Amino acid sequence: MTIRVGLIGLGEVAQLMHLPLLADDARYKIAAISDVSPSLTAHIAQRYGARTHANAEALIDDKNVDAVFILTPDHLHADLLARAMDAGKHVFIEKPVCLNVEQLLPLIERGRGYAKTIFVGYMRRFARPFLELKKRLPALSEVQHVRVRDLICEAPFFVAQTRPVFKPTDVPPAVIDEGRARTQAMLRAVVGADAPAAVVRGYQVLTGLSSHSFSAMRELLGTPKVFAARQCNGGEAIAVLFDYGHFTAVYEAVTNHVARFDSGIDVLCDRAMFKINYDTPYIRHLPTRLEITRSGDRETTTDGHPVLWYRTPFRSIGLPHPFALLLGRRYTHRKAAPRDRYHLGAVRAVTKGAAAGLGMRGRLNGDQYQSGKSRDTPETHGGRPHRPAVWLIAKNQAPITGPRGGKRGPPDPPA
Ligand SMILES: NC(=O)c1ccc[n+]([C@@H]2O[C@H](COP(=O)([O-])OP(=O)(O)OC[C@H]3O[C@@H](n4cnc5c(N)ncnc54)[C@H](O)[C@@H]3O)[C@@H](O)[C@H]2O)c1
Repeated sequence: MTIRVGLIGLGEVAQLMHLPLLADDARYKIAAISDVSPSLTAHIAQRYGARTHANAEALIDDKNVDAVFILTPDHLHADLLARAMDAGKHVFIEKPVCLNVEQLLPLIERGRGYAKTIFVGYMRRFARPFLELKKRLPALSEVQHVRVRDLICEAPFFVAQTRPVFKPTDVPPAVIDEGRARTQAMLRAVVGADAPAAVVRGYQVLTGLSSHSFSAMRELLGTPKVFAARQCNGGEAIAVLFDYGHFTAVYEAVTNHVARFDSGIDVLCDRAMFKINYDTPYIRHLPTRLEITRSGDRETTTDGHPVLWYRTPFRSIGLPHPFALLLGRRYTHRKAAPRDRYHLGAVRAVTKGAAAGLGMRGRLNGDQYQSGKSRDTPETHGGRPHRPAVWLIAKNQAPITGPRGGKRGPPDPPA
């Protein structure tokens, strides 16, 4: 069965990822496209042989489109998602679903019982090394410390050296102006009309870049509280402490001009360390790395499972997960939307903390994310069973007794 896909927004990420990945996969047909730039629409139509639509609404209403990809700037996401749901389409929507919780709540309501798949583009969670990490991580009670980071250089450095992107010059100025004004209004609805520009920028970084990390972190470790947060350098440098009860997760986001993309999660247990690293999403098929280091009393080993995985995480989400409904597995709005609600909630909390430059505790406006009650307790660890401490024992080593159970081997003999 071929799934007929319609893409709205044909900019950088569509050209670098979604279009070529869809074109490479026989299960999908790029049936229709739409962009506010006529020259870009014509260029992509010619290249991929797709029908064009004068606007997003016409594409959504196209009876010959089964699934809509929403790849426009963030401020349009919520409206287009609502519209696509009205039309009863499957939807792939780039992150973030929207820019504030108020926009999301009606979408969650609307999504209840929605029969089709709605999938949010948090691709890091679908990289195979991440799925392996989920399987191999011991019980949450064994985690002692977590580091999460996005230390990056923006896309142009990488894109300029790898793949051409068609940059149109005919987007109507009124569309650009309206987009800027709506984006600012949506951001300021959260951080306040008088918030300094750095706080607005910080919130944008958190909803854009950081939401990937929060999504992965929450899936791996459950829901934390925001303990403290601070932003510097005009919102381009953000540090957050997340409180998980018996351990802290430290998050750092820095965007500058040092050409590297260092994103990942390190989980430290007493005798094991798990490290996952993602490279820039702007170059397809760069490896995602998973390294596991285990230490006994006398030796330490680092291995991976697999150490490298040469497949873009985009491919894993784009295909086949978004339309898994048609292919046997189902990811529904009910799952995606509450996750996004959490992300926006956490992001708002972080922004407020960062804005104030103060640590934060407890509830904020009664929002779920601030309740301080992690739904994933150490005992359930997100529904996964406890793994025994003995899991940490490397081959040929004496059993270990950690502080939380298991058996500790004999102490080192005197030197
Ligand atoms: N998952 C990821 O890692 C990742 C990476 C990059 C971007 N993104 C997300 O993808 C989305 C697009 O990002 P981008 O970098 O490609 O932006 P972009 O500005 O390069 O592309 C957006 C495109 O949408 C078009 N557009 C604007 N208004 C439109 C409308 N009303 N109808 C149709 N088209 C319209 C623009 O002309 C432009 O071509 C953003 O939401 C961004 O957050 C996700």
